[in-house]
Amino acid sequence: MEKTTSGKNVIADIWQEEKKDTNKAKNIATIVTEDEARMFLPDGELNRTLGGGLVQGSVVLIAGEPGIGKSTLFLQCALQWQGVKTLYVSGEESAHQIKMRAERVGMAINEELYLLTATDTNTIFQEIKKIRPQWVIIDSIQTLESPYIESAPGSVSQVRECAAELQKFAKQTGIPVCIIGHITKDGSIAGPKILEHMVDTVLQFEGDRHYAYRILRTLKNRFGSTSELGIYEMTSSGMRGISNPSEVLLTQHDEPLSGIAIAAAIEGLRPMMIEVQALATQSVYGTPQRTTNGFDLRRLQLLLAVLEKRGGFHFGMKDVFLNIAGGLKIEDPSIDLAIVCSLLSSYEDVALPSNICLVGEVGLSGEIRAVNRIEQRIAEAAKMGMDAIVIPKANAKGLETNKFNIDIRTANKVSDVYQSFFN
Ligand code: TYD
Ligand code: MG
Repeated sequence: MEKTTSGKNVIADIWQEEKKDTNKAKNIATIVTEDEARMFLPDGELNRTLGGGLVQGSVVLIAGEPGIGKSTLFLQCALQWQGVKTLYVSGEESAHQIKMRAERVGMAINEELYLLTATDTNTIFQEIKKIRPQWVIIDSIQTLESPYIESAPGSVSQVRECAAELQKFAKQTGIPVCIIGHITKDGSIAGPKILEHMVDTVLQFEGDRHYAYRILRTLKNRFGSTSELGIYEMTSSGMRGISNPSEVLLTQHDEPLSGIAIAAAIEGLRPMMIEVQALATQSVYGTPQRTTNGFDLRRLQLLLAVLEKRGGFHFGMKDVFLNIAGGLKIEDPSIDLAIVCSLLSSYEDVALPSNICLVGEVGLSGEIRAVNRIEQRIAEAAKMGMDAIVIPKANAKGLETNKFNIDIRTANKVSDVYQSFFN
């Protein structure tokens, strides 16, 4: 039978001086609050997702599918972080491979970065004791092995025990630990999911490996908001933070194409212009196909049903493909109107003007519902040089339209928009 020790004795002697009187109950009135001490990483997107830097003594889990760029991002960050002694523990790659990756991202060698290729937590803590780093990166939790647990690395009990040891270490020493963890497409495999409640912050890497763009989302944060989000591009020389996503997500077309619509979306707290591409073609098989990339399939089916029932468009006989450009996954329901317009544009084979963007959630009876943060969306559209924006009528109330340098049009129902574009 296994016994969980949660790092007993392993870490207890590491930083003996750090003994806190946490065993005594305190009156809440006597507790002094102060802002957490934060360390600012040399990566703006990462600082943003962490809620303004890395909190000392915190444990951050970075989860993502294999190959998405977790190791690259953290190695890159460690290389750039001058003046902070970092220990990068890798159980996946040899020191040689890591060095090659460091050369590939083309950054100067940071003399304060130490690499350790080990999987045994005892060895790791011993090295930590010797090197005394200010930041520890574990790549990845699935490769770690605690001597107190008999099961194989990557198993639920190993992952849990190793994480508990790291958590205890971080809390005792105040040294932040970033733990990388792999997940599969459905996020199921033992690992990150079972760790979520044990760590302070969970960041999730999303994106399609075949596309360059990646989103780093905050799923949980004890020290900040969970609506933050970072955007990266995987280049041939590492990950590059994208401070203005709209610029890269809008593709330039010489002439307007049918099936394309532009949405003013907000992901996390960030407004961004997104290109939606739809293709509706005559179905050759009995059951028409519906395929989406970056958008919820069931939501598409719902929107198609609305168009079929309320507008009389026979999508039931067509295959429908829908794509969000750039490989991003968009959850913001306000892109419904752009989705519907791209579908109609492909259906009618009439291109929409490329200088107009659309905002609105579409309801079951074809009504266009109000969305949040309308001003931010309009401002972003104006900033990106759009000439006009279509917004839900309900959002227009009390809106100071003349403070924006863009033509603001309102719509109440999908049929209003249809009339204006296709009639
Ligand atoms: P990696 O960081 O190893 O992913 P993870 O740790 O999440 O499994 O990145 C893997 C992919 O990124 C790999 O297919 C190669 C590619 N890559 C680049 O495109 N550019 C680069 O500079 C680097 C280092 C990797
Ligand atoms: Mg890796």
